Amino acid sequence: MPYPVAKHPYMLAATDGEPARRFYDIIVIGSGIGGLTAAVGAARRWKVALISKSVLRDTTTFLAQGGIAAALSEQDSPQLHLEDTMRAGAGLCKEEAVRILVNEGPDRVRELMEICPKFDRSGGDLVLASEGAHSVPRIAHAGGDATGSEVASALAQAMRSGSRVQVLEQEFVVDLLTSGGRCVGAVSLNLRTGEFTLDYASATVLATGGSGQVYSLTTNPAVATGDGMAMAWRAGAAIGDMEFVQFHPTGLYADESPIFLITEALRGEGAYLLNHAGERFMVGVHPQAELGPRDVVVKEMVKQMSAAGREFLYLDATHLDCQKIRQRFPTVYETLRDRGFDICRDRIPVAPVCHYMIGGVTTDLWGRTTLPGLYASGEVSNTGVHGANRLASNSLLEGLVFSDRIVRDLDRYAGASGGSARRLTIELPAPATGKNEPAQLADIRRRLQKLMTADVGIVRDERGLNRALGRIGSLLEELEPPGASPEEYELYNLITVAGHITRAALLRTESRGAHLREDYPQRDDARWKHHINFRLKGDRREGEVFGGYG
Ligand code: SIN
Repeated sequence: MPYPVAKHPYMLAATDGEPARRFYDIIVIGSGIGGLTAAVGAARRWKVALISKSVLRDTTTFLAQGGIAAALSEQDSPQLHLEDTMRAGAGLCKEEAVRILVNEGPDRVRELMEICPKFDRSGGDLVLASEGAHSVPRIAHAGGDATGSEVASALAQAMRSGSRVQVLEQEFVVDLLTSGGRCVGAVSLNLRTGEFTLDYASATVLATGGSGQVYSLTTNPAVATGDGMAMAWRAGAAIGDMEFVQFHPTGLYADESPIFLITEALRGEGAYLLNHAGERFMVGVHPQAELGPRDVVVKEMVKQMSAAGREFLYLDATHLDCQKIRQRFPTVYETLRDRGFDICRDRIPVAPVCHYMIGGVTTDLWGRTTLPGLYASGEVSNTGVHGANRLASNSLLEGLVFSDRIVRDLDRYAGASGGSARRLTIELPAPATGKNEPAQLADIRRRLQKLMTADVGIVRDERGLNRALGRIGSLLEELEPPGASPEEYELYNLITVAGHITRAALLRTESRGAHLREDYPQRDDARWKHHINFRLKGDRREGEVFGGYG
């Protein structure tokens, strides 16, 4: 099976004249919770640049509604949180990483609350919500259902006012720079001026988020094009667990992207999922009914939709206290009202939608990737905490906890290798000979999303996956390498990620967590209780598949 990706470590082509150079101790790429936490922490000691290809707030973190899961109440404990996470993860969580997540999580969330005072309280006590597959209410939230924007704004404010982070917005990091088997920085394209810069650093932290734009419909913002995963892979880092793409049960049924997410916390407050006969179909399917793990709920939704020959089901909150719902979920209430729905009176049409990339750049317990000098945090990373199915609201927590660990590791490591970058030369590939027209790029992107949705979506089988892999290869051939515009760079990244999702999904001949194979419906622990990782190796830059880590 071929690797549908370019062989050169750089997508960027050589241009006339020498690109400018900048020198830092640490570069952080991305401005979600993982990036902001790493930048604020690292800047206490190091010269830091945070690079965003858009504006700071244009992240998946900013859109997060539900909240942050952590054992913060007396009825809860890290052990209980660990058990819930491992159970939801369907046998593939890396226990050591989960233990770190749940043990260090509560302190990290309390620290976050010191800079973000908007966490919801009642009479001084934190209000904790229920979400799918949690055995106790555990989700701390802010502004009702505006947790992501409150947290991201507070962290961005802390970064801008109290630290010496150089913030570089509208700069698209095209590739990581490597030398002597290390990551030594990144090359970025200034989207305002069209100029490239080589950014050198002792350590680089990838926090570029996910890759939801691989699919036609996603809750992710338009910037989620898998850039970090693809550039890390080109640079020689291992990426893993790529077959596990999480679909969220309750995207608003609509033909638009990003899809508006209706938070799982609404089901935590008692909202029902109904089929077209008006029945609560999750009752009897899972002991927690609508609050079963996401993969279980989505699987049953697919069954129900297929039986009814419809593309959506209903979320019903009409039996709940309307005032309370309006107060607790202002974003959901107002957004639905703007789309013509009254959540207090109407059943809301919903369908599962691509929401979260579980796989990513494989890291150890300190966020270190397999490429020295490169770290990864948040959705771009594959720490192993989510296994085959992420527990709701563990994602913001992962970014917080592992970025803190990265900062601690940087304090041990970063000083040791600084300085040598000034003498490095980087060999870029020759300029592109042809030109990819914008309309052609948009068309290829649409076709990629369509084929991924049809053949590599929620339910997969060998025939569809093989067909998808062939088509992804053909799409790549339609492009004239190397890239020369932001749209092309994104498209190469999307194709790279799509190829790995598809290849991993084809290899894993079982159903587990978010990976559902119609032709292999059972979980097969004897053969598949391990991870699939990919990396390039050797001078010929051949792909290698390997299983297991940690
Ligand atoms: C939600 O609010 O339902 C999303 C939370 C998450 O994805 O963890």
